[in-house]
Amino acid sequence: MDLNIVLLGPPGSGKGTQTERLAAEFGFTKISTGDLLREAVRNGTDLGTKAKGYMDAGKLVPDALVIGLIKEKLKGSKGGVILDGFPRSLEQAKALDEVLKVGLAVDLKVDQEALIKRLTERRSCRKCNAVYHLEFNPPRKEGVCDKCGGELYQRSDDTEKVVRERFATYTERTAPLTEFYRRKGVLRSVDGMGSIDDVYKRIVAAIKAA
Ligand code: AP5
Repeated sequence: MDLNIVLLGPPGSGKGTQTERLAAEFGFTKISTGDLLREAVRNGTDLGTKAKGYMDAGKLVPDALVIGLIKEKLKGSKGGVILDGFPRSLEQAKALDEVLKVGLAVDLKVDQEALIKRLTERRSCRKCNAVYHLEFNPPRKEGVCDKCGGELYQRSDDTEKVVRERFATYTERTAPLTEFYRRKGVLRSVDGMGSIDDVYKRIVAAIKAA
């Protein structure tokens, strides 16, 4: 499918979970800035060293760094792209506009208390970035990724203190993007409450209507 999609929505709204499934089902190229930045931190690259402090504090990594990263990734991509976690500021949305025609912006809506439960009980795979939840989407074997056998860990920014900071950053810097995409006529608000399957079906309906 040639459609280019951005997934908006606050931390924990299910962007990564849904992106994974949509990419597998529709063949979209998946780009997740959070995963790319965490990989850079793990590998101790220059980008990772610069990004770490912002990520640990629940702040956005500076636009110039993330925009450069995305432009690089988009260069080699073919067919439709699904972006998880980008753009997150008006500057990023404008920069994306210059290089990619976004046909659908999905804004996932989830209650704040549900978000906190999702994030504080999330587990992620160190090897393949697959995401689990201790209650809502547990791995078959505790601490082990179903997909690749990698070790599951809790992200350092998933503590309640950092999560609240991430919400504040989202409200200040990212929430205004809904207006940017509404004006372009590509915004669809999607109810992100309910099961992972239910949310997936709603997003697929939005894709089919785009
Ligand atoms: P990033 O990794 O993008 O974090 P985020 O946006 O805060 O989003 P999350 O990954 O926390 O949540 P999600 O919406 O993907 O939810 P998930 O599917 O995992 O960014 C991390 C940091 O990197 C940022 O704080 C920033 O510092 C930096 N960064 C990244 N991009 C940047 C950018 N563009 N510019 C600048 N800085 C950037 O689901 C959460 C949990 O809920 C999981 O356990 C999952 O299993 C569960 N779950 C999902 N859906 C459901 C459901 N329907 N019901 C029950 N549980 C569910």
